[in-house]
Amino acid sequence: MYWTLLSAVGFFLCINATPSESFLLSMSSAKTIYDIPNSGWRSPEWNWGYAMGTGHDCAAVCRRQYQTRKSREKLLDDLLKAGTQSENERNPKNFEEVKLILALAWQNGRWDGSDGGRGGYGQVLVAMAGANRYENESDKESSKLLVNDMAARFHLLGPTTEEQERMVQVSKDVGDDHDASRRQCSALVLQAMGFLENGL
Ligand SMILES: *[C@@H]1O[C@H](CO)[C@@H](O)[C@H](O)[C@H]1NC(C)=O
Repeated sequence: MYWTLLSAVGFFLCINATPSESFLLSMSSAKTIYDIPNSGWRSPEWNWGYAMGTGHDCAAVCRRQYQTRKSREKLLDDLLKAGTQSENERNPKNFEEVKLILALAWQNGRWDGSDGGRGGYGQVLVAMAGANRYENESDKESSKLLVNDMAARFHLLGPTTEEQERMVQVSKDVGDDHDASRRQCSALVLQAMGFLENGL
């Protein structure tokens, strides 16, 4: 109770402070999600897979956000058009949210095989939860690994020839525009997993 109160006060102070540049910098390097303090894959309070922790809190927000088919359709559209936009026009602004969506989809997919089954996206989820492989200080390095790991397993989802070709193209682009590449790659994976139809 005491801690809940303290973190609520902390959150209140955070959102009301005039953000200085260093504050914004520390926010971006902390990679929090949905403005929940101490969230994010590298936070010791994230506790992925447990009923208590900022991971659980963010998962609840995320599931609510993508409850409707319309919101899921918008997400996929936004991610797919990233290559035609400048970086600050892209949605969601924070790619960490997309990683959370992927993780929740893979977690669910474990039960019906829509995560690609053995050797599939469950392995990418384990690496994500390990908070090392995709958490390089260079966003570009992290993106390359994530995109390559996702693209290498795409065939397990039974994509159409057209989807497979698109994935090859998108993963090649990671060297030029790593952010557009990881967004488009994520959309293709979510689409092939049935995210639009089934949600999280
Ligand atoms: C980040 O990536 C570079 C290039 O692959 C690597 O040399 C470095 O060790 C990585 N840093 C961490 C913290 O893993």
